[in-house]
Amino acid sequence: MTIRIDRDRLWATLMELKEIGAYDDEATGLRGVRRLALTDADAEARRRCVAWMVEAGLEVRVDRIGNVYATRPGRDRSLPCVLMGSHIDTVATGGAFDGTLGVLGGIEVMRTLDDAGIETLRDIEVGFFTEEEGVRFGTDMLGSAVTAGRIPLEHAHKLTDNDGKTVEEELIRIGFDGEAHERRPIPHAYIECHIEQGPILSTAGVTIGIVEGVQSISWQRLTLHGEAAHAGTTPIPARHDAGLVAASVVVEARRMCDSGEFGQLRATVGNFVVSDGQTNVIPHTATITIDLRNPNNTHMTAAESHLATYVHTLSTQHGVTATWERMAKTPVVPFDPAIQNLLASTADDLDLPYVRTMSGAGHDAQEIAALCPTAMVFVAGENGGISHTPREHSTPAACADGTDVLANAVLHLANQP
Ligand code: GLV
Ligand code: MN
Ligand code: MN
Repeated sequence: MTIRIDRDRLWATLMELKEIGAYDDEATGLRGVRRLALTDADAEARRRCVAWMVEAGLEVRVDRIGNVYATRPGRDRSLPCVLMGSHIDTVATGGAFDGTLGVLGGIEVMRTLDDAGIETLRDIEVGFFTEEEGVRFGTDMLGSAVTAGRIPLEHAHKLTDNDGKTVEEELIRIGFDGEAHERRPIPHAYIECHIEQGPILSTAGVTIGIVEGVQSISWQRLTLHGEAAHAGTTPIPARHDAGLVAASVVVEARRMCDSGEFGQLRATVGNFVVSDGQTNVIPHTATITIDLRNPNNTHMTAAESHLATYVHTLSTQHGVTATWERMAKTPVVPFDPAIQNLLASTADDLDLPYVRTMSGAGHDAQEIAALCPTAMVFVAGENGGISHTPREHSTPAACADGTDVLANAVLHLANQP
């Protein structure tokens, strides 16, 4: 027996949530979503999701890092639950699907089980995790990493945004400083449905991806301190140009990717700030973020140490000092082969062609994988799978396909003794 979710109902919730934090994006002329973690927009979206959970008859709890879980009781409540989930925070230039599909898809699975009058042996839960994007407080997968025990709650609470506001005070302010212990009960299994955010599925002409794992992610902030001086009078050899060193790092990072020396390295400098931004003054300080991704841990280590040496040599040469700050670092996380195979056989049962693929993006599933057997279902995006921009889009049919795979795999796991 296979069950099918209600695609119109799922789509309606995706479109409704998209309006919370919506903004007009100048660069694309499209309407995007800006719902940074623990802002008012995030709070409103959280309350909307909790209302949907309650309407679906679920028991809702919030933990001390603001993760929210909703439970559909099974027949034997002493057994570990099957967990679904993802996140509802977005980057500042987000779309309607990144994260939300896995959360609203999970709620839709619960409604579908109710409509079909299906009872399960185990509890089923759907959750959303705090600050997956890491854009506001600087560390991605924060809520799930705390739950998995990789990041201590006290450390997470003290992280600050650009205005010096802490995670803890923002949790309290928006009313999501819950009482449940952050180290949640160990689930039987976790499945996260998520848009792919890349071009592999659409190139293969399929709507479904079975995810083999997530590549290694390294985030660092590099601050270069030079000396401000007159642009017209300071001789070239006498300059301590922090902006020049920062710009060279951007170019070197790209060269490293192109060289093939570091395997399938991807490097991005997404934040570049030069002080004080004056046309006729040599920059005294430059701060950049460096995002490195690599499907191979050895290549990642080599890339990080090459960059460290490069920065050291170049800053010494220019009389500039360099300060590194570690923001986030996760190794390659392989997903559970048995859950992957269950997802694959579920897609077969539903007559949905799929490909197996590694994830280029980071996900809460990479943290929850430390707790229990975990895997992910990817759903194809439109426009070549572009994401982290308002151009991010998927179709009602693709979202329903992925959620159908989620529903049937979860149903199977929830009846496993
Ligand atoms: C999460 O969206 C990431 O940065 O991969
Ligand atoms: Mn995401
Ligand atoms: Mn994202």
